[in-house]
Amino acid sequence: MTSKIQIPHELLPADGRFGSGPSLVRDDQIQRLVDGNTPRTHNLIMGTSHRQAPVKDTVAEIRDMLARLFSIPEGYEVVLGNGGSTAFWAVAVTSLIETRSAHATFGEFGNKFYDEAARAPFVSAPKRFDADPGKLAKVEITEGADVYAWPHHETSTGVVSDVERVTDSGLMVVDATSIAGGIEVDISQTDAYYFAPQKCFGSDGGIWFAILSPAAQERAEKLHKDSSRWMPQILDLSIAISNSVKNQTLNTPALATLLMMHAQLEWMLAIGGLEATAKRSRTSTSMVYEWAEKNEYATPFVRDPQLRSPVVATIDFEGIDAAEIASTLRHNGIVDVEPYRKLGRNQLRIGAFPSVEPDDVAALLKSIDYVIEQMQK
Ligand SMILES: Cc1ncc(COP(=O)(O)O)c(C=O)c1O
Repeated sequence: MTSKIQIPHELLPADGRFGSGPSLVRDDQIQRLVDGNTPRTHNLIMGTSHRQAPVKDTVAEIRDMLARLFSIPEGYEVVLGNGGSTAFWAVAVTSLIETRSAHATFGEFGNKFYDEAARAPFVSAPKRFDADPGKLAKVEITEGADVYAWPHHETSTGVVSDVERVTDSGLMVVDATSIAGGIEVDISQTDAYYFAPQKCFGSDGGIWFAILSPAAQERAEKLHKDSSRWMPQILDLSIAISNSVKNQTLNTPALATLLMMHAQLEWMLAIGGLEATAKRSRTSTSMVYEWAEKNEYATPFVRDPQLRSPVVATIDFEGIDAAEIASTLRHNGIVDVEPYRKLGRNQLRIGAFPSVEPDDVAALLKSIDYVIEQMQK
C-alpha cells in the first residue's frame, strides 16, 4: 500500500504547504492575529469596529503599501471590496463594460469571467480569443469592445501572460489573482489590475483588490449614473471607490484577512519588493521545471518555457500515478499538490508563491523522488 510509504524525516520540507490558493500563511502573519493589532499603530483590530480609526488606519496602510509595491502611476487608486475575485468579475461586468468586452480564455478562470459577461443582459455578446489548456491566447482589437480582459496568470494550467496595453480605446482589465505580488508588472499597461489575497499575499480569501486607472474610475462613475442599468450597490465600483479612498468598504470586511495582508505587505517591502518576491518564486519553480525535464516520468505541462508560470508549476506524469504520489505526500504532511480539479490530467500542481521557501521546494522534489522510488518497488 503506497499510502503507507513514510518519507524519511530528513527529506521532508519544513513546511508542507504547496497549494495554489489558499496558500501558505507565514507564522508571522498568524502572529498578527494572535497579537490582534498592527505594530505601527499598536491598536487592537480583531473584534473592533471597521468604521473606527484602528481598522481604517490598517486599510490605509494596506492601500499605501500596495501603491508602493506596485509603483502605481499618478492618478491610479487602490480599491477594495468584499467577495474575492469572483465578485470582481460581476463588478467589472456591471461597472466597467459599457457595451462589449473581449476576453482571452486559456483555462478555467479566463472562461469564468467570459461566461459572466456573456450572461449579462445589458451588454452585447462578448468576443473570446481561445487557446487549449497549457497554451496562451491573447486578446486582439475587437470592434465595439470597450473592455479587454485576460488573466495575467491562469492558475488552472500554470500559464503566464504578458501585460501590455492592446489599444488606447478600451480598458485593460487584468486578472492577477494568483500572480500579483509574485512578478514584476508595469501597472500603466492596465486599467484594472485585480487580485485576491489568498495566493501570493498568503492571506485569506473573500476580499478583492483592484488598482484602477483614471479611465477605469471615470467609466465606473459614468455607468453609475446610467439609470437604465440595474446596479446593486455591492457591484457598483463607484461606491467601492468612494469608500476605499476613505479607507473603508461598503460592508463589513474580514478583519483577519486585512491583518494578514498587512503583515505580508510589510514583509514583501522589507525583503525588497516585487523584484525580491519574484526572484524567490522563480527560483522555486525553475527548480521544479528543471527537475521535471531531467525526470523520465515527468514533463512540464506547459511546453513553451516562455509561458511557464513562475509561481505555479504544473507537471505531467507518464507511467506513474500522480494522484497516488499526491495522496502519499498528503499522508506525510505535504499538501495541496493535486492538479486543478477540472483539468483532469495525470499531474501535480506545485504552488510556490513568495512565502514558500525555495529550500522547501528542493526538499519537496527529493520527497517526490523518494515516493516514486518506493512506488516502483
Ligand atoms: C486566476 C484566478 N482568478 C479568479 C479566481 C477566483 O478567486 P476568488 O476565489 O477570490 O473568487 C481564482 C481563484 O483561484 C484564480 O486563480
